[in-house]
Amino acid sequence: MASGGVGYYRTPSLVSVWATAPFLHNNALGKYNEDPSVEGRIDAYNDAMEKLLWSDKREGIISRTTQKSTLALSQRGIIKIPVPKGMPVNLLANINPREAVTDLNLVNLFKDLKPEGGLKGKLGRVLLRANKSPDFIEDKGHTFGSELSDEDKRALIEFVKTF
Ligand code: HEM
Repeated sequence: MASGGVGYYRTPSLVSVWATAPFLHNNALGKYNEDPSVEGRIDAYNDAMEKLLWSDKREGIISRTTQKSTLALSQRGIIKIPVPKGMPVNLLANINPREAVTDLNLVNLFKDLKPEGGLKGKLGRVLLRANKSPDFIEDKGHTFGSELSDEDKRALIEFVKTF
């Protein structure tokens, strides 16, 4: 029984993993081809396995907001946090907003901020400091197997199809 942390993932086994690409808990590794046929699943599996074992083939995905918006927080009244277009979603999603409002005095900070100025300014710095997981690349984790020879990687991709 795990204890003491804020939470944990339960990693699935690799049984039938040929059928369930894209990979990882956030489905960020490998293409999503919207094709549930056997051929489609194998195609997605091959793509995900290539990206798993040759990490230079990964896309470096960062989810970003697609338009200027506002995040409303209720904290002794409503606080409106202006969210610029292009902001990494996890810059906001990985903070505890209530904690950040108290600890970092975000209320005052956000009053003065002009987020249109970009994330290199104070807003970016403050949110980064409050971030619980300040790594926004979503297909970066898991490089086990990347040291194998190309031949071994190809053999492994075929072998795991039999799981
Ligand atoms: C060559 C060796 C390995 C291969 C081929 C391999 C393959 C895979 C695959 C295909 C997945 C994706 C599963 C899915 O999304 O359903 C996965 C996930 C995972 N593997 Fe491995 N793995 C290897 C070694 C390791 C090792 C040595 C560890 C730990 C020490 C490990 C830990 C994990 C964890 C924690 C995940 C889940 C990650 C996530 O969901 O974000 N793997 N592995």
